[in-house]
Amino acid sequence: MDAFIIEGGNPLQGEVAISGAKNAVLGIIPAAVLCACSSKIDNVPDIKDVNKMIVILEKLGAEIYRENDTLIINTEKPISYDVSDYEEETGQMRASYYLLGALLGRYRKAIVPLPGGCNIGDRPIDQHIKGFQALGATVVIEHGQVKMEAPELKGAHIFLDVVSVGATINIMLAAVRADGKTIIENAAKEPHIVDVANFLNLMGANIKGAGTDVIKIVGVEEMHGCEYSVIPDQITTGTYMMAAAATEGDILIKNVIPKHMEAITAKLSEMGVVVLEEDDGIRVIGKHPLKAVNVKTMPYPGFPTDLQQPMAVLMTIAQGTSTITESIFESRFKYVDELRRMGANISINSRTASITGVKSLSATKIRTTDLRAGAAMVIAGLIADGETKITEIVHIDRGYENLQENLRNLGAVIRRVSEKDPACL
Ligand code: EPU
Repeated sequence: MDAFIIEGGNPLQGEVAISGAKNAVLGIIPAAVLCACSSKIDNVPDIKDVNKMIVILEKLGAEIYRENDTLIINTEKPISYDVSDYEEETGQMRASYYLLGALLGRYRKAIVPLPGGCNIGDRPIDQHIKGFQALGATVVIEHGQVKMEAPELKGAHIFLDVVSVGATINIMLAAVRADGKTIIENAAKEPHIVDVANFLNLMGANIKGAGTDVIKIVGVEEMHGCEYSVIPDQITTGTYMMAAAATEGDILIKNVIPKHMEAITAKLSEMGVVVLEEDDGIRVIGKHPLKAVNVKTMPYPGFPTDLQQPMAVLMTIAQGTSTITESIFESRFKYVDELRRMGANISINSRTASITGVKSLSATKIRTTDLRAGAAMVIAGLIADGETKITEIVHIDRGYENLQENLRNLGAVIRRVSEKDPACL
């Protein structure tokens, strides 16, 4: 397994361009199988989760061509609705659950293994299933597989008990091909929900209200291929913003949608960081000492749970005591032990971490417990007083394109080593 070695203490300087949004494209790629057609998708990030999704679709029979960040997905020939043989691939990511909605929409049948994904708490898919059942599917879970069949798929009124990104997208994927009107109430409003809906509408779907908590979908009989460009990744943008703030750097982050970053911009400004918005860019200038703040993770437009861990790193060196309350995933504090090993002063009480700032973090060997914890460990390494080794970076590769190269271009001293590398012995 690869590891990162980071020599801390270098302020980030320069420019970085943000790649396409992981959690949007992971809904868009399965959406492309909703018809016998060919779609061209631009701004597709080169990350492990996306590459796995492509492999699964190819194994199901889709023809996929990739050139740089452009993907062409051709499903003119029928593909299989049975994903059960590809449990190894589906088990390595969360978004494999979108094959349920997409295949149910196209074939009225789907067999898909239960998904994997980061171990950050209880992650049921009961709301997805409730939605599919409301649309007329029978759903059986046995031997680790979700088996669905719907002789008829009919529009329905669905009220989500919890605001769920996955359930909102999954229900949209099936409902666009159902007969009649579906209403999703208490829908998630994340930018990636809007992006998947925009893609579906370009394919001929009729979806209104994406980005609000009531989404109305009128099912259509025919859909067709389209050309689409994925939005920039909100969480990757936030990660670079925090890395600049933590290192007292000055960077321009290009190809971003500043509106998507408002919750993060507001919190960083409260900490004393200078954040300047441009048309499709954000400049971040870190000013130390950082001020302590309180953060509570919430569904969009609130502060995203996916940036809770990087934010905690900033708090470890802020003046005073900050709190961070995780209201989405109850086990998203596993990385705290690693930060404590670097000298951070953190106590956890239920879902709230209290973090009292220290002068600096001390470099040591730390490990990555999940994707965003990995991003947090990298930021911790960038500010630590020496050489930090971060192991299990396979989690980071799932969601960040060219992280090491981008950080190097910004002046960080970071290299990737494999266990075979003598530097790691
Ligand atoms: N929930 C249920 N039942 C369901 C679905 C969700 O109780 O059927 C609960 C969850 O347990 C959680 C809350 O609802 O407490 C929100 O979960 P959501 O369904 O929104 O999360 P998800 O679809 O499993 C996606 C992202 C995550 C991101 C969350 C929240 C993808 C592939 N994953 O997960 O991304 O943290 O939304 O925004 O889109 C990441 O990128 O690192 C990541 C973990």
